[in-house]
Amino acid sequence: MAWDTADTLGMGDVVSNESLANLLKEERRFAPPADLAAAANVTAEAYEQAKADRLGFWAEQARRLTWATEPSETLDWSNPPFAKWFQDGTLNVAYNCVDRHVEAGNGDRVAIHFEGEPGDTRAITYAELKDEVSRAANALLELGVRKGDRVAVYMPMIPETAVAMLACARIGAAHSVVFGGFSADALATRIKDADAKVVITADGGWRRGKPSALKPAVDEALTKVDGVEHVLVVRRTSQEVGWTEGRDVWWHEITERQSAEHTPEAFEAEQPLFILYTSGTTGKPKGILHTSGGYLTQVAYTHHAVFDLKPETDVYWCTADVGWVTGHSYIVYGPLANGATQVMYEGTPDTPHQGRFWEIVQKYGVTILYTAPTVIRMFMKWGDDIPAKFDLSSLRVLGSVGEPINPEAWIWYRDRIGAGSKPVVDTWWQTETGAIMISPLPGVTETKPGSAQVALPGIAATVVDDEANEVPDGGGGYLVLTEPWPSMLRTIWGDDQRFIDTYWSRFPGRYFAGDGAKKDDDGDIWLLGRVDDVMLVSGHNISTTEVESALVSHPKVAEAAVVGAADETTGQAIVAFVILRGTASEDEGLVDELRNHVGATLGPIAKPKRVLPVAELPKTRSGKIMRRLLRDVAENRALGDVTTLTDAGVMQLIQDKLPSAQ
Ligand code: WT7
Repeated sequence: MAWDTADTLGMGDVVSNESLANLLKEERRFAPPADLAAAANVTAEAYEQAKADRLGFWAEQARRLTWATEPSETLDWSNPPFAKWFQDGTLNVAYNCVDRHVEAGNGDRVAIHFEGEPGDTRAITYAELKDEVSRAANALLELGVRKGDRVAVYMPMIPETAVAMLACARIGAAHSVVFGGFSADALATRIKDADAKVVITADGGWRRGKPSALKPAVDEALTKVDGVEHVLVVRRTSQEVGWTEGRDVWWHEITERQSAEHTPEAFEAEQPLFILYTSGTTGKPKGILHTSGGYLTQVAYTHHAVFDLKPETDVYWCTADVGWVTGHSYIVYGPLANGATQVMYEGTPDTPHQGRFWEIVQKYGVTILYTAPTVIRMFMKWGDDIPAKFDLSSLRVLGSVGEPINPEAWIWYRDRIGAGSKPVVDTWWQTETGAIMISPLPGVTETKPGSAQVALPGIAATVVDDEANEVPDGGGGYLVLTEPWPSMLRTIWGDDQRFIDTYWSRFPGRYFAGDGAKKDDDGDIWLLGRVDDVMLVSGHNISTTEVESALVSHPKVAEAAVVGAADETTGQAIVAFVILRGTASEDEGLVDELRNHVGATLGPIAKPKRVLPVAELPKTRSGKIMRRLLRDVAENRALGDVTTLTDAGVMQLIQDKLPSAQ
């Protein structure tokens, strides 16, 4: 089938001419809280202003930053799809994230409340961060790193990771952060593709109560690639490490002897800031390139607007790993550019107990929480009594990112975490977009559970059909972005042609996001999952997201993954894998009950042919369900590549369940 290979993604033959099904009817509405709306950073006027003069709007947002040379030109789009934003401006990204807050008299403000998994803590002020970043920048210079070089970062979730990234930015080197859960092979491929000169790593990090080693993977990766001159090693767990004399350097030894003074140099706005690899389903990983001025402008603006951040009083916490773009944009660059105080947590949500996240919210008085639907559904599964034990009254804005959030998970988040009154902002964006693109604004938008709703001020998004025609309200098709935006990827590292082919060829002149979407009767946007996850049942395109949301709306279901499996009569048949909620049991009749529930919610066409209760679902390390593997199971095929799974054993458990359920 066409949608089994990502090669077809964007090539036009994935979804038939008929538009994506538009089945889900969600009528619940939530007005913004009056007190938040009254003091909101951004009001409805921003949409008007940006509509009247989009580039003028972004030129104004760029003034949030401190430029060494103010840009006179906002956008150069003379050679699409290669954009240049603010190109005659110069700035230093690290200066913007650190020094300027100290110069403004906020050096004593805590930048990072670090909470280690074993319970160790550190509060790092902006003044301290400035010293640490300066020392690290001087250390990189001593190791021979220069403007334009690439530095790989393979780290746990500790403050040194942010320091390392900012130190690179400070001297004009591009970092390439590789998620600490990736294997030596994955690391080697990425080091090689970016041609990194230095690798920054740690002995290990704490995970599930144990030290989890990182350095051995670096040592192994470096047997496979050349060109790395030094490995900088942070001591975190004190576990034993192999050592290559002359190549390996302890972070604490080299930084301690550096000066805490480093004068930041101003670089061009289009100076590469980082490369971040996204896997895609097939093919070699794509090195997504982001640059400096436009990227920092949009992450700073969106962090201010979407989370309503008040840097003097808010305590912000994004639970993502710095190894993903969410960590880059909404742990490091956005919050620090805005002078925020934030929490950084090293470990897993259930160590040492399943209430750890809520304990952290209570302890630091977190006011803004940004997490993922997969995490929310896990908490739903663990039970309502866990968050109920903690004081969560400090929270005032709740964010979600990473995949479509099912309406019931959205409601649970608002009710159980947000006391039934705090706004949920469902933020749609991608590694490639660099920053949030579609999201409600907490002081403006009347929210709808399950919908990201509206493009932010200054962003142009719509839904088109196969022939690139914009669909009317109520229609479905593909999400596209119709105008360039400041934090857009500039290319795929080393492969301009692939950049053009992947994103700009399916609908010429528009950016193809690869997501199915629909517009509701108000014109609001609902994301329906990746287009290669759409099912074709008896000639109808049905979105996996909608069937999953229908299943999750049943009180017994915590999480669901739905795939289309080849079927002689219907083309594809819907197969649903479900995780039951805490107390629900797999009794007789459950399967029919769930099938009928979907039928009643979405219509008979969407009724799954099979429903299989399972204990776990296969997920990537960023929490996305790997439907491709579930399709392999549903179609009785040998499993495809499982190397990016968090836990390969999950697939065996699922396969073991199959015969009895057939
Ligand atoms: C893909 C991008 C953006 C940072 C984390 C993921 C899906 C992301 C949403 C959302 C529906 C979403 C899309 C997108 N996605 N956020 N709020 N609603 N879908 O970054 O790994 O580059 O993945 O994640 O399918 O294309 P990424």
